[in-house]
Amino acid sequence: MQHRALGDSPIEVSAIGLGSWLTYSGGVAREQTEACTRAAFDAGITFFDTANVYGRGTAERAWGEILADYPRGSYVLATKAYFAMSATDRGLSREQVHKQLDASLRRLNTDYVDLFQCHRYDESTPLEETMEALTEIVAQGKARAIGFSEWPVERIRQSLAIPGVRRFVSSQPQYSALHRDPEAEVIPLCAANGISQVVWSPLAQGVLTGKYRPGERPPQDTRAGSRDMGRFIGQFLQRATLERVQRFVAVAEAAGHTPSQLALAWVLREPNVASAIIGASRPEQVRENAAAAEIALGADTVAAIDEALAPPQTSLF
Ligand SMILES: NC(=O)c1ccc[n+]([C@@H]2O[C@H](COP(=O)([O-])OP(=O)(O)OC[C@H]3O[C@@H](n4cnc5c(N)ncnc54)[C@H](OP(=O)(O)O)[C@@H]3O)[C@@H](O)[C@H]2O)c1
Repeated sequence: MQHRALGDSPIEVSAIGLGSWLTYSGGVAREQTEACTRAAFDAGITFFDTANVYGRGTAERAWGEILADYPRGSYVLATKAYFAMSATDRGLSREQVHKQLDASLRRLNTDYVDLFQCHRYDESTPLEETMEALTEIVAQGKARAIGFSEWPVERIRQSLAIPGVRRFVSSQPQYSALHRDPEAEVIPLCAANGISQVVWSPLAQGVLTGKYRPGERPPQDTRAGSRDMGRFIGQFLQRATLERVQRFVAVAEAAGHTPSQLALAWVLREPNVASAIIGASRPEQVRENAAAAEIALGADTVAAIDEALAPPQTSLF
C-alpha cells in the first residue's frame, strides 16, 4: 500500500482509507463492520475516518472495540465534530470542541486521535474561538493534527491568516470523477498552504462501480437499493449520469482495471490528494479497492475518462 504525507505534518496516511459513514453507523451488520475493518488492515489500509455524528456514536464505538486489537501506533485515526449530537450539543464553540472530542475519545477507546476535523464551518462561533480550541486540543495531546471538511474557501483563507494558532493540514471534500468541484479553488488553495485532501465518496457512493444500469431498478443489496443507506445517492442516479458511467466502465475494461479501481486511481492521480476514503459494505470491496493504490494512470486513460464522463454538449445550432 502506498502512503502519502498528510499536508505539512509528520503523519502519513494510506492512499486508500476506510470510512464509516452510512455503513458502520448501523447500515451494515456489526460482523460486516468487523470483517471490512480487518480486511482493511490485511490489505495495508492504515487510515480510518469516522465522526461523532455517524449513528450518533455508533460508528466510533464499533471501531473503539475492533481497533483495540491493533497497536495504537499502527494506524491513523481521524474523527470529526460539528453536527448536532443532541438538542443542545452542536457546532464548534470552545466548549463543544473539547466536549465532543472527549466523548469521541471515550467511544474510540483511545487517548488521542491523529486527526480532528471540523465537519463543517460553524457560522455561529467566531473563527478565532474555534481555531484557539483546536490549538488547545493539539497542545493537550488529544489530537496530533487538525483538518476541516467542506469549508467555504474564504473561511479557509481566514483561518490561515490568524496568528498564533495551529494550522490545518487536511481538507475533506467530496471528490470523484463525477464530482470535480474542489479542482476550481479548494485544491489550489490547499496545495499552496501545506494542506492535503482526504476525499470522501471517491466512488460517488458506488455509482462509479457501474453496478447501477440506466433504466433499471438498483439491485437490492446495494446502497441505492437500501432504505437506510440510500438517502443521499439520488443525485448520481439520473439516466444521463448512468449512461456516462457505462462509457467509463468500457474505459476500465480497455485499461484492464475494474471500474472501482479506475475511479480510485483517477482520484489519486491528483498529487494534492493524500487519501481516497472509501466506504465498504463487504470485505471483498475493501480488497478490490485497496489494489487501486498501485495503479498509475497514463495520460491517454485520463483523457478517455474525461471524454467518457463529460456531460453531453448542448448546441444552439
Ligand atoms: N466529510 C463529510 O462530510 C463526509 C461525507 C460523506 C462521507 N464521508 C467519509 O467518506 C467515506 C466514504 O464515503 P462513501 O461511503 O460515500 O464512499 P464511496 O467509496 O464513494 O462509496 C462506498 C459504497 O460503494 C459501494 N462499493 C464500494 N466499493 C465497491 C466495489 N468494489 N464494488 C461494488 N460496490 C462498491 C459500497 O456500497 P454498497 O455495497 O452498499 O452498494 C460502499 O459502501 C465515509 O465513510 C466517511 O468516512 C465524509
